[in-house]
Amino acid sequence: MTKKAIGVFDSGLGGLTILDALRRTLPHEDLIYFGDTANVPYGSKSKEAVTRLSLAIGRFLQEQNVKLIVAACNTASAQALGELKKQLSVPVMGVIEPGAAKAVSVTRNGHIAVLGTEGTVKSKAYPKAILKKKPNAQIIQQACPLFVPLVEENWTNKPAAQLIAREYLAPVLQSGADTVILGCTHYPVLKGVLANILGKKVTLVDSADTLAEAARVFLDKHHLAETKGKGRVTVYASDAPQRFKKLAQTLLADKISTVHLKKLL
Ligand code: DGL
Repeated sequence: MTKKAIGVFDSGLGGLTILDALRRTLPHEDLIYFGDTANVPYGSKSKEAVTRLSLAIGRFLQEQNVKLIVAACNTASAQALGELKKQLSVPVMGVIEPGAAKAVSVTRNGHIAVLGTEGTVKSKAYPKAILKKKPNAQIIQQACPLFVPLVEENWTNKPAAQLIAREYLAPVLQSGADTVILGCTHYPVLKGVLANILGKKVTLVDSADTLAEAARVFLDKHHLAETKGKGRVTVYASDAPQRFKKLAQTLLADKISTVHLKKLL
């Protein structure tokens, strides 16, 4: 049987945090990553646009004969997962369900905060997924649009990151949430800054680790898991692959050797 890869996509760079988690959890799997650098950001786009772009990437990954597609982008998961599942023949997994399940399992007081892009917050995908599992949960959502450029500029250690995070987190602190979902690919990079402001009593739920674990469970359940050999990583970007490669080194534990250009539409 030929080895089939797992396809992973994001609006750009941030999904590499998911790729990294998949690589750690599933070291034998081949991974194909697609970053839609030509169309990033998705967070401020309409549902229609996000769906159209996600479907185009999904079809490309399907043509690469993948066995599973992971929508690593929270905005795409929140807005396009239904259509992706409907229109593609490969199973598709998003980051919302695993993140919501983890938050429900770790909260002690039932107060959960969701940090995400405008699009993710607007879709209410996280509150819906949380309430399905815990109907009496108290949920507060906070859009944090300035976090994405901070991460992309590698400014997470600058005072600006602290100042911006304090503003965004003020209502979260006030809400008494003991669990905060990092509902965007880029936010795990700011974990240190956020944890510092929120304090030790608040648990940060990182969608990267929860998604990787859900993918492992899925592959085991369907007898699709690779058990031998080191997995290979192939990376595509829809624009400026060299820039992508340079920025990727700040997000990934392991280096990537080549980023291929693959124009989307
Ligand atoms: N990847 C997006 C997400 O996780 C963040 C960046 C964007 O707005 O495209 O929601």
